[in-house]
Amino acid sequence: MAKRKKIVMGNWKMNLTVPESTVLLEKLKKEMPGNVSSEVVLLPTFVDIYRAAEEAKGTKLLLGAQNVAEEEKGAYTGEVSILALKGFVKYVLVGHSERRNIFGENDKVVAKKAEIVVRHDMVPVICIGETLHEREDGLSKVVTLSQLEASCKHLTGEEIAESVIAYEPVWAIGTGQVCDEKEAEKMAADIRGLIHSLYGEKAAEKVRILYGGSVTGKSAKEMKAAKNIDGLLVGGASLDHKEFTAIVKNYSSEISVKKG
Ligand code: 13P
Repeated sequence: MAKRKKIVMGNWKMNLTVPESTVLLEKLKKEMPGNVSSEVVLLPTFVDIYRAAEEAKGTKLLLGAQNVAEEEKGAYTGEVSILALKGFVKYVLVGHSERRNIFGENDKVVAKKAEIVVRHDMVPVICIGETLHEREDGLSKVVTLSQLEASCKHLTGEEIAESVIAYEPVWAIGTGQVCDEKEAEKMAADIRGLIHSLYGEKAAEKVRILYGGSVTGKSAKEMKAAKNIDGLLVGGASLDHKEFTAIVKNYSSEISVKKG
């Protein structure tokens, strides 16, 4: 199987002001070990991306955006275009469950967003996952895989290979209820299986699959065993520099000297 670079992402959501995220980033720069095996990616709010990108220069910390407009340019008041993000971020989340469930984004919108990210040489992190209700109805796999297929429909196999899929069961987000390693691994294997049947072996071997939902330092260690999971998408715990650093350390394999 192809070696896939692991990723740990911190999604700060709408939780921090610019001064607050400046403090957090300063702490992370000091505490984060320099040579962990995972990519470490921070997702600040739009208003903070330019500053955070300046501050992260020369460090191993990478940046991502939490969302993007589905159109490239024009009269779309309040939206942020992919062109505005270019040069500052490597990754862009599309279809986070909060975008789907609170702001009404459907698979069609998510598919357009994934496409525009890829066309501009950034990496989409395509978020999928079932709600508690769907889980209780035994629909976890059906819902998650149908979101996957529909959200990726404008991408080629080569583009999928370079993309990231984030499995975030909605019932585990912000609830403290972690999907255990076995269940997450099973879904990740099903996701990879669908990519294989739709796009072929190469895409299935290369695409990276993340787990997200109430990740902590402790669960990060457990998730390491899941062979189809290539990273973590962390919400609440990424706001605490000590916990986030612990997650990165526990999840990554090569740690030696500390920075700073
Ligand atoms: P929590 O880690 O707070 O559950 O959030 C997960 C998430 O939504 C990351 O995108």
